[in-house]
Amino acid sequence: MKQVPPAAPVAPWLGGKKRLHPLILERIEAIPHRAYVEPFVGMGGIFLRRRFRPRLEVMNDRNGEIINLFRILQRHYPQLLEIMRFQICSRREFDRLRVTDPATLTDLERAARFLYLQRLSFGGKLDGVFGVSAGHGPRFSLARLEPVLDAAHERLDGVVFESLDWADLIPRYDTAETLFYLDPPYFGGENDYGRGIFDRAQFARIAEILGSLKGAFLLSINDTSEIRALFGRFHLEPVRLNYSVSAAGGTEAQELLVSNRERIATLL
Ligand SMILES: C[S@@+](CC[C@H](N)C(=O)[O-])C[C@H]1O[C@@H](n2cnc3c(N)ncnc32)[C@H](O)[C@@H]1O
Repeated sequence: MKQVPPAAPVAPWLGGKKRLHPLILERIEAIPHRAYVEPFVGMGGIFLRRRFRPRLEVMNDRNGEIINLFRILQRHYPQLLEIMRFQICSRREFDRLRVTDPATLTDLERAARFLYLQRLSFGGKLDGVFGVSAGHGPRFSLARLEPVLDAAHERLDGVVFESLDWADLIPRYDTAETLFYLDPPYFGGENDYGRGIFDRAQFARIAEILGSLKGAFLLSINDTSEIRALFGRFHLEPVRLNYSVSAAGGTEAQELLVSNRERIATLL
C-alpha cells in the first residue's frame, strides 16, 4: 500500500457519501488488500478520498457520462481545463447544455458538459435544475474548480476504468486479495440513476454473488427490513447519521454497513 494525498469528488452526485465517508474510509483502511474495486463508483466520493492505494484500483459505473469524465480527466486534462476556463455560470447555458444530446458531442465536450451540469445542478441530481439561488452560490468558478480537478487528475494516475454492469465486473476482479466497496442505489431508489440499469431484484443477486466471493467486501445501503433479510448471513453494522436533506431541517437516517467478516479475518 502506498500513501497518497486524498482528492475530493469533482462534482456532487446523488448518494455521494458526504456524511458517511469518514467511517467507510476507516473500515476500508482496516482491511488488507492488493486490489481495490468499486462496482458503483459514482463520482468517487469514497474512491478519491482514500489515503492509501494498492497496486490495482478499478472504478466502474454503468453511467457512461461518469466514466467518460474520469477518462478525460486522466488523459486530456489540459484540454478539459481549457474548455472549463471559458465557461460562464448562466441559466441559459445550463439549459442549453441540459437539452444537448451527449451523443452529438466529442468525448471531451461530453465530459465538459457533464461536469458543468453536475457542478451547477441543485443537489447534484441527474435531471437537475439550475442550482443557483440567493441562498446557494454557484459551485462554478475556475479558482474553485482548478485545484479540485488538479488533485483528481493526479489521483487517477494508473486507475483502471470500466463501464460494466456490476454483475459482469465482480467476477473479473475477484481474487483472495481484492477488496470490493459496493455502494448500490438505495433500496426504494432503484431508478434514481436512470431507468433500466438497476432494479429491486438485483439486491438478492448482489447478496448471492457476495456470498461466494473469494475476496473481501464492504457494502453500504439504507437499513430496511428487506435488506436485513437479504444480507442477514453477513456481518451487519447499523449506522445512525443525521442528514440535513431539506430546508425543513435534519432528519435521522439509518445506514447499514455489510461485510464478510470471516473473509476479512483470514486476510488480517
Ligand atoms: C449510490 S451511487 C454511488 C455513489 C458513489 N459512492 C459516490 O461517491 O458518488 C450508485 C451508482 O451506481 C451506478 N449504477 C446503477 N446501476 C448500476 C449497474 N447495474 N452497474 C453498475 N453501476 C450501476 C449509478 O450510476 C450510480 O452512480
